[in-house]
Amino acid sequence: MDVAENPLDPFPHYERMRAAAPVFLDDQSGAWHVFRYDDVQRVLSEHATFSSRIGGDDPSGSGQLFAASLITTDPPRHRQLRSLVTQAFMPKAVDALAPRIAGLTDELLEGIAARRSADLIKELAYPLPVIVISELMGIPAEDRERFKQWSDIIVSQTRTGPTGREHDATTSEMIEYFLALIDQRRRRPGKDLISTLLAAEIDGQKLTVPELLGFCSLLLVAGNETTTNLIGNAVLCLAESPVTLQRVLEEPALLPQTLEEVLRFRSPVQSMYRVAVAETMLGGERIPAGAPIVAWIGSANRDEQTFQRPAEFDVDRSPNRHLAFGHGIHFCLGAPLARLEARIALEALLARLPGLSLAPGAQLERMESTIVYGLKALPVTWQPA
Ligand code: HEM
Repeated sequence: MDVAENPLDPFPHYERMRAAAPVFLDDQSGAWHVFRYDDVQRVLSEHATFSSRIGGDDPSGSGQLFAASLITTDPPRHRQLRSLVTQAFMPKAVDALAPRIAGLTDELLEGIAARRSADLIKELAYPLPVIVISELMGIPAEDRERFKQWSDIIVSQTRTGPTGREHDATTSEMIEYFLALIDQRRRRPGKDLISTLLAAEIDGQKLTVPELLGFCSLLLVAGNETTTNLIGNAVLCLAESPVTLQRVLEEPALLPQTLEEVLRFRSPVQSMYRVAVAETMLGGERIPAGAPIVAWIGSANRDEQTFQRPAEFDVDRSPNRHLAFGHGIHFCLGAPLARLEARIALEALLARLPGLSLAPGAQLERMESTIVYGLKALPVTWQPA
């Protein structure tokens, strides 16, 4: 059996795997693939058994950038690092950003509202999260375009999995850029996240330079592509379901639960990696110590044992315990921010682009990655007011 048969529509493949081989060893790569909800939840959250240190002690390529970041550390270091940034991402701090996010959304839509058609990924879903995270990190506006290129290349590198060892110009370019930025903030601190991290101490120790770099690149990648795809996937789900679209138009208060269902139904992050610390049993299979594991979030979120009619997009689903933001100590730090950005973006789209629908004959293409799930472009039309 192949691991990912059709990257464009992986859901039928997941369904077959949940039934026939829910914990599956891919002989070629040596990685174990996990498809059922309960098993995925265990792999994501039992950090003593399933380590996040996927690069081990010798990471290279894109792994190098994240080697010292939250997402690739285990306790106790993980807890210490995470405590430094939780404040900035708590719902209260994030809610304070709402007026700025709404202002940026308006600016972006201003440019297209008088037209009848646009690619919503390019015009809104991509730039909005990049600008928000850049502002949080104090990155100058003129450098944003470079950010886009870097995060695209890094996401496509991670496609090869945790053992991918591609050293390339992007990684060193990014390291150089952030080193210069860190240096500048050291001399002239501001109110941005990088200055906060520079001032932070754990047991009297400052963060190391690799740790600072890890934070910067993680925030850059984690905060951009994923939120872009949540916004894009939400528009796609609504365009496919005119009844839901009509309901949300009449009652925008339904948007938060609609977005939760989008997160379940078309999860922006389809899979996460772990490494087994010791031999362990999972779904009846014996996983050896040191084995790489791929937890398929996108499959867990469609598990018929957990969700009724999982292949149906149903905004009334309650409870909706999807794993789109992970589970346990690594639960997505940016979840409140992603939810807020997506809600504001969708509210604005629905209010300002009446009659929003997919452009007739649009050929939708999924981004080439088995990890992230989103569209390359989202051509839509509407009737200008
Ligand atoms: C819809 C958008 C997003 C999705 C679907 C998403 C998904 C995830 C997932 C699945 C994890 C868990 C990783 C694991 O268990 O190994 C995670 C972790 C993380 N996310 Fe997000 N994310 C999103 C947006 C964001 C944003 C906007 C930010 C920051 C600005 C962010 C920052 C992080 C960080 C720092 C971690 C690591 C947390 C840790 O290891 O303790 N994410 N995200």
